[in-house]
Amino acid sequence: MSNSLRFLIYFIFPLSVPLTGFADESEVVEDAIFVLEQNCIVCHNAEDAKGEITLDRDPLGLDDPSLILEAIEGSDPKMPKDTDPLLDEEIAALKKWIAAGAKIPKGRILKKPDDE
Ligand code: HEC
Repeated sequence: MSNSLRFLIYFIFPLSVPLTGFADESEVVEDAIFVLEQNCIVCHNAEDAKGEITLDRDPLGLDDPSLILEAIEGSDPKMPKDTDPLLDEEIAALKKWIAAGAKIPKGRILKKPDDE
């Protein structure tokens, strides 16, 4: 094996794993935040917390983030209330985010669509 190939395998490759892992994580968070802002924050913010649930900041105001999946998935989704269910890719984005710990960056307040 050439030295440069060895360098690539033993040094560059392992180094790239944590770096891209980190990029993926923030992408998962941003995708989920987008879905929440478009579909949920209007009814689940600190001033107007329907069902006493807030989803607009860290920490989330609900007992267990998996409740979100129960509310958006299945043949009879309850959330978002009184509108069309989320698209499959929106559900997938929230699933990934919940699997990754359902984090919202500290200090960030999610906006409802008409706040922008
Ligand atoms: C139009 C207002 C409205 C929107 C939009 C909305 N919710 Fe809700 N949500 C409610 C109300 C009201 C409740 C209280 C329970 C009920 O009346 O169904 C609730 C309850 C919940 C609950 C508690 C579990 C349950 O099923 O009762 C979760 C979790 C939840 N919402 C998540 C979400 C998520 C995630 C979104 C976005 C995809 C969303 N909600 C969008 C009004 C809304």
